[in-house]
Amino acid sequence: MENGSHVVTRLPMKVALITGGAQGLGEAMARLFVIHGAKVVIADIQDELGQHVCEDIGLDKAIYVHCDVTIESDVENAVNLALAKFGKLDIMVNNAAIVDDVKPNILDNDQSTFERIMRVNVTGVFLGTKHAARAMIPARSGNIITLGSVSGSVGGIISHSYTSSKHAIVGLAKNTAAELGQYGIRVNCLSPHFIPAPSTKNLINGHPDKYTKVYSNLKGVALDADDVAQAALFLASDESKYMSGHNLLLDGGFTVINPAFGLFARASPIE
Ligand SMILES: NC(=O)c1ccc[n+]([C@@H]2O[C@H](COP(=O)([O-])OP(=O)(O)OC[C@H]3O[C@@H](n4cnc5c(N)ncnc54)[C@H](O)[C@@H]3O)[C@@H](O)[C@H]2O)c1
Repeated sequence: MENGSHVVTRLPMKVALITGGAQGLGEAMARLFVIHGAKVVIADIQDELGQHVCEDIGLDKAIYVHCDVTIESDVENAVNLALAKFGKLDIMVNNAAIVDDVKPNILDNDQSTFERIMRVNVTGVFLGTKHAARAMIPARSGNIITLGSVSGSVGGIISHSYTSSKHAIVGLAKNTAAELGQYGIRVNCLSPHFIPAPSTKNLINGHPDKYTKVYSNLKGVALDADDVAQAALFLASDESKYMSGHNLLLDGGFTVINPAFGLFARASPIE
């Protein structure tokens, strides 16, 4: 909210750790959180890119740490760095994830790829949640946000492994919300629809007809990285202080409609 030239910051003095923040949605969230008064730790495996983003934001407000979310000691170290440099951890964003190619026949899907996706997208979120909780429980407050996807709610839009992983983290968020509420710690998922990004380039190029025409019901707007960052800001701020265990879908209504029935699609279009 703006009042003349005065911007009301919504994360004053907060400390956030964002996994996978070197590019894409994680980078957008890091930049917006800093505008709103937070200090951020970007944890990623793309060291040059991550360091560059932090330098661009300002090293007094953003620091980079190498962290492979599948390695527990890396995640532990990233949380410890936030505590050492900024004194606390208020917000953990489990954002890092990977996508594999869609293979329409399950017989062509191999175990190693399935396990690789689950390791980054699920085990990585488990480790991020665990070590964030380690820092937040003694503080009796904290806020954990995990990036999900519409494929955590419906089937048939992306690979089996990615769909499985995004369903799994919704369950993990609910279970950890159930446990951690007693310490004043909130846990939520933020689940966007498809956004053109480095991670989704192959999908767009492979299936342009499917991935560019998904917003059949909500006309006139298109989802972008800033929309995701704004929704994450809402979940990270006290404006959402009573929300926990929730999966916030950012999908223009995509997942609540079954196009096979199509009642309103048959209505006369407004001229
Ligand atoms: N872009 C979309 O359309 C879309 C839609 C729905 C959900 N999401 C979710 O949003 C999140 C961010 O997506 P994005 O499009 O910005 O992806 P992206 O590929 O642009 O960025 C992901 C980041 O995670 C990092 N990363 C990958 N493996 C890692 C590991 N093992 N340890 C640490 N970091 C690792 C990458 O280096 C990269 O910087 C993901 O959870 C994704 O599933 C994206």
